[in-house]
Amino acid sequence: MPDKKNILLIIGGGIAAYKVLEFIRRAQDRGYGITAVMTKAAEEFVTPLSVSTLAKGKLYSNLFDRQEEMDVGHIRLSRLADIVVVAPATANFMAKLAHGLADDLASATLLANDKPILLAPGMNPKMWNHPATQRNVTQLTDDGMHLIGPMSGEMAEDNEAGTGRMAEPLQILDAVDSILQQTNIEDRALSGKHVLITAGPTHEPIDPVRYIANRSSGKQGFAIARAAQRAGASVTLVSGPVKLEPPQGVTLVRVETARQMKQAVEDALPADIAIMSAAVADWRVANSTDKKQKKDGSGTPPALDLTENPDILRFVSQETEHRPMLVVGFAAETNDLVENATKKRKRKGCDWLVANDVSQEDVMGGDTNTVHLITEDGVTAWPKASKQIVADRLIAEIAASAPLRNN
Ligand code: C5P
Repeated sequence: MPDKKNILLIIGGGIAAYKVLEFIRRAQDRGYGITAVMTKAAEEFVTPLSVSTLAKGKLYSNLFDRQEEMDVGHIRLSRLADIVVVAPATANFMAKLAHGLADDLASATLLANDKPILLAPGMNPKMWNHPATQRNVTQLTDDGMHLIGPMSGEMAEDNEAGTGRMAEPLQILDAVDSILQQTNIEDRALSGKHVLITAGPTHEPIDPVRYIANRSSGKQGFAIARAAQRAGASVTLVSGPVKLEPPQGVTLVRVETARQMKQAVEDALPADIAIMSAAVADWRVANSTDKKQKKDGSGTPPALDLTENPDILRFVSQETEHRPMLVVGFAAETNDLVENATKKRKRKGCDWLVANDVSQEDVMGGDTNTVHLITEDGVTAWPKASKQIVADRLIAEIAASAPLRNN
């Protein structure tokens, strides 16, 4: 339970706005103070009177209202908050935010804000899946904003199903808790610790122009690096080929193949904590060639002779001289998630395993992740959230874990 933290709640104009009344109540139950800002469109879905009654009068809506500007002003509004929650975050509002527009109190407040921002998108599945919306979501998460949901299931309109439903009030609150928990440990729960992280895919050459790869984007590993760095750790991030920039202050070692990744990991040891989130190729091509392979006219394709790659996670888990005090592996599973991942934790010899369900279409390369944390003590299901929230929570759990506390 946080000691009286304040949430600035920005209410967007979508059908899910009715859920924010419940959100305000539940947030107050958990001891949060609420100040609300409504967009003009939000007033079409929920009345200012109900919001202001629940928020005990702390409701603002108009950038150009002299009284409101005198009372708080859009700059002070964000200063008073510990976190900003946008619910529902509509496609239009996220588009404005992605471009830095500030033509009403809600958007101006966000532009003037330096606190963590949590977006809870809620919209029609077609709008959510539209390339413009997806582009904006990527921009917003790259800008460091957190995302909870949207969830899949039935929508309010036309019995339509798909991904677009706003997360439930308690799920949004859990995300708020975990972001603020991370902000609390920001100083400096992992200071003096070396955290070694692997991320991204590996590329296994067939010839100089072709390779075997997978769809990993590296986003989850880079988000973990950012969270660990914010918690005061010194961070080495060993990454396969990805299009991401490393968070400031993190030592990035770029590699291509699994064997190079293993070498870079060995070079980076010792580490206090190892988090192996890379999607390392299980096999490489034993008969790769230095020259580009050509069609020989026979119509018979060349046979690829595959051989197994070193298992870096298992190597780090079993490394006796330099074994980190906590080794965390990842497991991407398409079926029997918990059962397979529980076995994998034992087989690899790691302490924790983060299992993610990649049967859903938007995990590999996407901005959100739905994971289970598997430890010796059991399995915890985490709600679907942005990769940064998953990273923040993982680092908070690591900082609070027994091996770290006793050291
Ligand atoms: O066996 P699987 O690939 O499912 O295991 C996933 C976990 O093992 C991830 O943590 C991944 O980074 C790690 N791994 C590894 N080296 C490999 C294969 C997987 O470090 N060659």
